[in-house]
Amino acid sequence: MIKKTAAITAVGKYVPDYALTNKELEKLVDTNDEWIYTRTGIKERRILKDSDKGTSYLAIKAAEDLIEKKGLDPSEIDMVLVGTATPDMNVASTAVYVASQIGAVNAFGYDLQAACSSFLYAMSTAAAYIESGRYRKVLVIGADKMSSIVDYTDRTTCIIFGDGAGAALFEPNEEGLGLQDEYLRSDGVGREFLRIEAGGSLLPTSEDTLKNRQHYIQQEGKTVFKYAVSNMADASEKLLQRNNLTNEDIDWLAPHQANKRIIEATARRINLDKDKVMINIQNYGNTTSATLPLLLADYEHKLKKGDSIVFAAFGGGFTWGAIYLKWAYNS
Ligand code: UT7
Repeated sequence: MIKKTAAITAVGKYVPDYALTNKELEKLVDTNDEWIYTRTGIKERRILKDSDKGTSYLAIKAAEDLIEKKGLDPSEIDMVLVGTATPDMNVASTAVYVASQIGAVNAFGYDLQAACSSFLYAMSTAAAYIESGRYRKVLVIGADKMSSIVDYTDRTTCIIFGDGAGAALFEPNEEGLGLQDEYLRSDGVGREFLRIEAGGSLLPTSEDTLKNRQHYIQQEGKTVFKYAVSNMADASEKLLQRNNLTNEDIDWLAPHQANKRIIEATARRINLDKDKVMINIQNYGNTTSATLPLLLADYEHKLKKGDSIVFAAFGGGFTWGAIYLKWAYNS
């Protein structure tokens, strides 16, 4: 029997129209364009301005883009996974709402929360379902409305994050293309350094937590940066070694877009030329769960069937890892 692999067969994306530039941030906090660009590589980020729209809006738009491009009948989708750190609501699953809105009437869905590694982990989950033969069409969406949890008086976070969504369809492949291997890790030490303190079961929202701005995302940037550099690079290197791959065998690195310096450090560790590194952080900032699928959507026209791609991510928790995938189609 031929072993089934799980391949990406279509991608889609959505970012809101409004671009929040570094210049505009200079009016909100004590910062400047030069500092932001040299320290992070970010020029602007997209923001969903409509206060009545949540992450599901971004996710639905990205899914609809994929559905239209692929000419997919949404009733054929078996499962919808939404990777997100900013669900529309606590308790009511965002993925379920998204599935209903896009017409995936025969699908079930759920959210997956692993901070900036959500899409990476969701790729692994989708692949496991497909390889087992249990489902045939799994729609994985990474979506975050980061502007809903960012404190625009905190210059250490508001310059980094943006809103956006990307989607990828996973289907069985019998040519050996798709997900080849993964190296996924996590470490609870991280929850001290990157988190929203209040609003969960540990510290429910109260007048005090609101007054103390504990409902916003906070991070110890320097510490997170160090962990991100070493762990994203280690994971990518381990994955290459384990699969007897050299830099010559890799066509693309698709790294989480948190900071250009983290991306460059990861690429350096596996000796990858700059022109093989996907990057769009300058346009969107860190969109958390959406960075990897947004890269795929932006680079889709350059990808060729059989290309070897290494995905790498690092996020709150801490969560991190790398995935080795062979691209399955020419666009
Ligand atoms: O997605 C996964 C999670 N997130 C990440 O991976 C993010 C990881 N961290 C980072 O990307 C970086 O740590 C930041 C971009 C957040 C900060 O860059 P940094 O090079 O680590 O700066 P720093 O925190 O060491 O601060 C250097 C200086 C400080 O001033 P002093 O103490 O040297 O006088 C900061 O107060 O820069 C100051 N600073 C700023 N200055 C202008 C901090 N934020 C800003 C700002 N504009 N926005």
